[in-house]
Amino acid sequence: MTTSTETRAAELTKPYTGRPAELIQALHRVQTELGYIPEAAQAAVAETVGVPLSQVRGVVTFYHFFRTTPVGRHTLRLCLGTACHVRGAELVLKAIREELGVGLGGTSADGVFTVEGVRCLGACGLAPVLMIDEEVYGKLDPKKTKRILRGIRENAK
Ligand code: FES
Repeated sequence: MTTSTETRAAELTKPYTGRPAELIQALHRVQTELGYIPEAAQAAVAETVGVPLSQVRGVVTFYHFFRTTPVGRHTLRLCLGTACHVRGAELVLKAIREELGVGLGGTSADGVFTVEGVRCLGACGLAPVLMIDEEVYGKLDPKKTKRILRGIRENAK
């Protein structure tokens, strides 16, 4: 059975029909439009571009910028670098888990937040640091972290 995701992915990758060398561009296009590349879309890309599904899966899992699960409206990037670790990143992560119900790599059930871990954000003097979309929040503690997340969640309603 063809799903709407498959149909949409097939439409999006039409310009790459029979062009295996442009697999990555085709996948980028699908991710830009759908926000991620689910299994059904991977199958459609494989068929249109003309490569085995195993190759598409391999590319999607190899490059960290491709996602196979939906992303939230806001992306949290928690710094896991040394300075942040020493100054309590673990406590910030615990606060995120308590507030959102998800940890690293997860998306909150309401679809508002996706949580990622990153290496040094280059703001070590502000450790522990959390980046939310394009904004950097520093010198965090659990209380401050929860307050920020609640504020964003309120505005997302
Ligand atoms: S270690 Fe976290 S910003 Fe550098």
